[in-house]
Amino acid sequence: MHFNLAGQLIGALLLQTASALPVWARFGSRSLSARDGSYSEILKPKVFIVSLFTPEAAAWWHIPDFNILAQNISIPGLSPRFPEAHCTANGEICQVVTGEGEINAAATIQALVHYTGFNLAETYFLSAGIAGVNPNVATIGSVTYARFAIQVAQQYEFDIRDIGENFTTGYIPYGTKKPAPAEYPQNFYGTEVFELNVALRDRAVKLSSKAHLNDSDIAIAYRAKYTQKAAKSAPFVIGCDVATSDNFYSGNILANAANNFTLLMTNGTGVYCSTAQEDNASLESFMRAAKTKKVDYSRIMVMRTAANFDRPHPGESAYQHLFYANSGGFLPSVANIYLAGIEVVNDIIKNWDSVYAKGIHPTNYVGDIFGTLGGKPDFGPYPFFGEA
Ligand SMILES: *[C@@H]1O[C@H](CO)[C@@H](O)[C@H](O)[C@H]1NC(C)=O
Ligand SMILES: *[C@@H]1O[C@H](CO)[C@@H](O)[C@H](O)[C@H]1NC(C)=O
Ligand SMILES: *[C@@H]1O[C@H](CO)[C@@H](O)[C@H](O)[C@H]1NC(C)=O
Ligand SMILES: *[C@@H]1O[C@H](CO)[C@@H](O)[C@H](O)[C@H]1NC(C)=O
Ligand SMILES: *[C@@H]1O[C@H](CO)[C@@H](O)[C@H](O)[C@H]1NC(C)=O
Ligand SMILES: *[C@@H]1O[C@H](CO)[C@@H](O)[C@H](O)[C@H]1NC(C)=O
Repeated sequence: MHFNLAGQLIGALLLQTASALPVWARFGSRSLSARDGSYSEILKPKVFIVSLFTPEAAAWWHIPDFNILAQNISIPGLSPRFPEAHCTANGEICQVVTGEGEINAAATIQALVHYTGFNLAETYFLSAGIAGVNPNVATIGSVTYARFAIQVAQQYEFDIRDIGENFTTGYIPYGTKKPAPAEYPQNFYGTEVFELNVALRDRAVKLSSKAHLNDSDIAIAYRAKYTQKAAKSAPFVIGCDVATSDNFYSGNILANAANNFTLLMTNGTGVYCSTAQEDNASLESFMRAAKTKKVDYSRIMVMRTAANFDRPHPGESAYQHLFYANSGGFLPSVANIYLAGIEVVNDIIKNWDSVYAKGIHPTNYVGDIFGTLGGKPDFGPYPFFGEA
């Protein structure tokens, strides 16, 4: 929004000059100028892919006619393991890799959104990673798009052996004395739940549903051991919500506790389906940037593809499930990031002028529990009382 017109004109001129150069010179000069922390033009990507670690990032690399490694741009504040953003030659499609876990995700996105070499005010963000999945809702290889991201471990925690038979889980919402869904938390950090644009989410689900999703023989054999209809079916695309936790939890009890907490926090609207370690944190950084119009919060999509189940099948212990089961889901889930995601990326590029430039208007509330971006949250104790 606060885009500097002079900068834009200079940028356009430089871009034109650059386009006249041979391909190698264009990329070479960008890399050189970017590496020393300066930049010669402000890029205004239409889509930014957010990957969390190398296999997810590499799913977008080395694809014929899609060279997202054409430009590498060093950005101060990115992960030391992933110090460069990547972009196509025309700068329309870019990628950043955050590193795993909430701290890496929040820190990287915070650095990205304030980097002055990008104008991200109209950019669509596709956060796309692998995840665990709830077998009641989807299956390994499935592709999920979230409306809500909930940080399920943001609660008091006891070891269950210390609190005994009265409790179904050791997790208890802040400011309460019983596990979810007994009582809404009373203390808030402000980042408990993030709600995204459902109209955009539903368009992404529809687009990705056109993809021919990948699967594997091992995954087919493994999912047959589950009793749930969703778990047993071939991979599909679905809109359902993501739980964020730095703890890589697994097993029936914690999965049910996460499900209960999701329902409680979203006032019954959320559908707990995928589990990962970053989204809630990235969304906090995006939201802070949206507050000053650095990004548009209604242009963010959170996709997760399922690599494994969050709980064992009948006859399998939680321990066996986490450490010894070969679900065969890893390779298909990584492949499906690209297969499903490219449908959305292509749609954004193709229909930029007619659909995406002006934005897809959200018909639901978008933002956090405080109403930071305006509007009235459709979850939580509005009007807000419990800042702590
Ligand atoms: C960008 O970095 C990747 C590795 O991260 C490398 O494969 C690629 O060649 C680099 N591109 C350029 C233009 O230097
Ligand atoms: C369980 O609840 C009962 C009834 O409220 C109480 O008397 C008992 O002390 C509780 N047990 C534990 C281990 O907290
Ligand atoms: C979501 O992430 C933020 C930022 O990392 C965290 O402060 C917040 O508490 C999380 N949400 C929940 C429910 O814990
Ligand atoms: C999944 O991808 C692998 C590796 O590219 C390929 O060999 C396999 O045929 C694909 N399977 C399906 C069902 O698309
Ligand atoms: C989840 O909530 C249901 C309904 O209140 C309860 O019966 C169940 O024990 C809870 N599960 C956990 C793990 O707390
Ligand atoms: C959500 O549920 C809590 C109780 O669990 C209630 O206090 C709050 O008013 C509800 N919020 C909305 C927006 O319905």
